[in-house]
Amino acid sequence: MAEDLYIDKGSKEEKYRALLPQLKNLIDGEDDLIANLANVSAALNETFHFFWVGFYRVQGEELVLGPFQGPIACTRIRRGRGVCGTAWAKADTLIVPDVDVFPGHIACSSLSRSEIVVPLIRKDENEVWGVLDIDSENLNSFDEIDARFLEEVCSWL
Ligand code: SME
Repeated sequence: MAEDLYIDKGSKEEKYRALLPQLKNLIDGEDDLIANLANVSAALNETFHFFWVGFYRVQGEELVLGPFQGPIACTRIRRGRGVCGTAWAKADTLIVPDVDVFPGHIACSSLSRSEIVVPLIRKDENEVWGVLDIDSENLNSFDEIDARFLEEVCSWL
């Protein structure tokens, strides 16, 4: 892909619709996982200006911090802990409209108010190998539109 990202000026859905083909090209043209995780987090951040966007990868019984955009974050999260560890254990996307009412939420930053976590699933083995985590400084930032498009991106990784 060209190194410049085209960012649609329309609605959230229009932004995702413009972004996804560009991400697909980017991922299809590169087989290095870390390079792809780094560029996906950068492209999501450039498009949506999230407070924090990044990846954690499963290593044994923990998630370990991977490529991300935003302030420094917790490096290790145990399975079943926090929003990330719960999305891993459930192998399901979690939308948290208000992190203060999510039992066990891990506050890497006190500025984070809402969050979405999408598991990365190895299709052949049906096994979670990581998560995409996105945090917002505003309440109620994420909905089914985010879940649908982000799950599609995660299925390519
Ligand atoms: N809030 C997450 C921890 C990761 S940071 O937000 C980057 C959680 O509860 O799992």
